[in-house]
Amino acid sequence: TRILLLNGPNLNMLGVREPSVYGSQSLAELVQQLQDYATSLNVELSHFQSNAEHELLDRIHQSLGQIDFIVINPGAFTHTSVALRDALLAVAIPCIEVHLSNVHAREPFRQHSYLSDIAKGVICGLGPQGYRFAIEAAVSFTQSNP
Ligand code: DQA
Repeated sequence: TRILLLNGPNLNMLGVREPSVYGSQSLAELVQQLQDYATSLNVELSHFQSNAEHELLDRIHQSLGQIDFIVINPGAFTHTSVALRDALLAVAIPCIEVHLSNVHAREPFRQHSYLSDIAKGVICGLGPQGYRFAIEAAVSFTQSNP
């Protein structure tokens, strides 16, 4: 199973950025833990973070035929990007949307996502653990949909 972990804008600032909302762990630490977890599940995990919408789109396009499942935290693009939605539809790679914070307990503008209805599932509010659960779910999804 080949899983792509995508993190959108400002997630490179984890650990520094609003720690009361997003926690104190850096993105590098988080990704390392997820890599170890993926290895324990015998899964190939690649990771890409960008603050640029087009770079995320390019990475999704390049995943065609290369990646079985995408775990994505689109950051603020969740609430703005029709293009990200269209890219995921274009490659038709199943995905899970993850948010560290509980977006439903925050500002009203965070409560709409352009991705949720096309995702296999959505996890929010569980912090870094949410990514783990998404990887676990991605593995069982790909095993039951080979
Ligand atoms: C986020 C929630 C978004 O609303 C916000 O713009 C982010 C992070 C989260 O992980 O909780 O950048 O996706």
